[in-house]
Amino acid sequence: MCGIVAYVGPKDAAPILLEGLQRLEYRGYDSAGLAVVNSRSLKTRKVKGRVADLAAAVPAKFKGGIGIGHTRWATHGAPSDVNAHPHLDQEQRIAVVHNGIIENADELRRRLEGDGVKFESETDSEVLSHLIGRMVKETDSLREAVLRALKSVVGTYGIAVVDAQRPGEIVVARNGSPIVLGLGEKEMFAASDVAALIRYTRQVVHLEDGELAVIKADGFNTFTSDARETAKEPFTVDWDAGHYDNGGYEHYLLKEISEQPDTVARTLRGRIDDRFHIAHLGGLNMDARETRSFRRVKIIGCGSAYYSGQIGAQLIEELARIPADAEPASEFRYRSPVVEPDTLYVAISQSGETYDTLAAVQELKRKGGRVLGIVNTVGSAIARETDGGIYLHAGPEVSVASTKAFTSTAVAFALLALHLGRVRDLSPADGRRICDGLRRLPEQIKEILTLEDQIRELAKKYADAPGMMFVGRVRGYPVAREGAQKLKEISYVHAEAYPASELKHGPLALISPELPTVAVVPDDELLDKNLTTLGEIRARHGRILMVGHRTSEAADDCIVVPRNEVELDPILLTIPLQLFAYHAAVALGRDVDRPRNLAKSVTVE
Ligand code: G6P
Repeated sequence: MCGIVAYVGPKDAAPILLEGLQRLEYRGYDSAGLAVVNSRSLKTRKVKGRVADLAAAVPAKFKGGIGIGHTRWATHGAPSDVNAHPHLDQEQRIAVVHNGIIENADELRRRLEGDGVKFESETDSEVLSHLIGRMVKETDSLREAVLRALKSVVGTYGIAVVDAQRPGEIVVARNGSPIVLGLGEKEMFAASDVAALIRYTRQVVHLEDGELAVIKADGFNTFTSDARETAKEPFTVDWDAGHYDNGGYEHYLLKEISEQPDTVARTLRGRIDDRFHIAHLGGLNMDARETRSFRRVKIIGCGSAYYSGQIGAQLIEELARIPADAEPASEFRYRSPVVEPDTLYVAISQSGETYDTLAAVQELKRKGGRVLGIVNTVGSAIARETDGGIYLHAGPEVSVASTKAFTSTAVAFALLALHLGRVRDLSPADGRRICDGLRRLPEQIKEILTLEDQIRELAKKYADAPGMMFVGRVRGYPVAREGAQKLKEISYVHAEAYPASELKHGPLALISPELPTVAVVPDDELLDKNLTTLGEIRARHGRILMVGHRTSEAADDCIVVPRNEVELDPILLTIPLQLFAYHAAVALGRDVDRPRNLAKSVTVE
């Protein structure tokens, strides 16, 4: 979603804010702006476009040692210079940057306009600057003004506020949209994501929902919404600035796809026990008795996280023989779900901040559900809210479309399924088979990456198609869904995924030479059935690109990947589809890392 950066200290704020915004651009990138305080007045620059456009618009001498910046992903009001943040009050004393959505913005706006306030923008966020601007005159504390203003606000926010009359402090607050404080040497930072801080400090403090902080160059204080001070322990981030570089690759996406042999090895490290053929998952915080007590597993997540959850559900049913299914977190939280005491809930999120997933976790907790998190970002909101979980250790994922986090999540599910299986009926022999299979994954991913030239040519061949169908059966179906998701996200080619068996119940009507099919065809017990489906497509003159473990005359083109254990094959079958989507997007000249209309971390509903 949108990105926020704030700085207070002895240096000039603008270059630090611009650098931070660049690091956050993957969260939102349709407009950007910043404000600094100098000689008790505000200087602002706001532009439609990228952070680079903002940097070009900021003069070299843009002095001021305190400031806030924002990169936007529009929700209310089209991307434009005026709708870009920061927003100011009428006296141009207060500047605010905001992530999230103010739900009662229309009502507040009408009320303020009735009192003679003139609005500059169409955004919901501007009400905040006017509200705080009014309150600051009634109290001599910016903290108090922000607290009072927020009392009349319904919605979600992460905000940073400066007051030109108080050039030594910034007030930040969180409710639903992340805010992290960064602790420097006689300087302080705040941001919506550690990515913006990592060049300057690795000591961070996460705000909780409902918390507010006053940051000054020499320290910070945090408060609840009723102004009671809270105690916070700083925490050291184990990612460094190098993790956020593109490593010489043309795109972050290609870098992240290529890192997968390492990232999968990191997800597995120290977690396979060869003595009992079990998984060591210390973060679950569950003893064997509790682990045995679950009769169902429910997995929730959004986007690719949800599709990796479908792979996870399949793994858990197969290896642990517990009924398991995955559901989009956004649907789950709105349908008043029945929460059962003997169900294990698993929330998946790369960022750990996706609002719908977080809200679903909070709903589960409120109803007494046992929730684990499979999360990449250590210390993120979902990691903090869940009862235990598995960290992916995949390193930061910068490109909007998820690749390495998807794969590591599927690997984490394989470990969880092994763990749940081995306290039940999964035999030691099968446990060993899965442990050995898991250990082979990094090398096999390396092998698949060597197919890049072939996949690039195939992507060029198929990229002109107006749309593509993706099909898979049982283990192959979530792979097909994720393959279609990758292609549509980054190449904008229409892509639909269907269970192969469902094709004849409707979508077969679409098949023609203009709509090629990507068929996920592992060498499992369903191979013959899948080959029959390919025959049905062929009979309608559909072109077929098959991804599997062998070549077949039933397909026009084949990508052959190494075979692992049938249960683990979906993890490997996804990798060529990532490369296929990547090269299709490149062939079509798309902005691969920052696809239109999307954001990396969706911290609004
Ligand atoms: C956004 C991104 C997707 C991602 C989803 C879930 O929609 O565009 O690529 O899969 O959020 O993100 P999470 O951080 O919760 O895994």
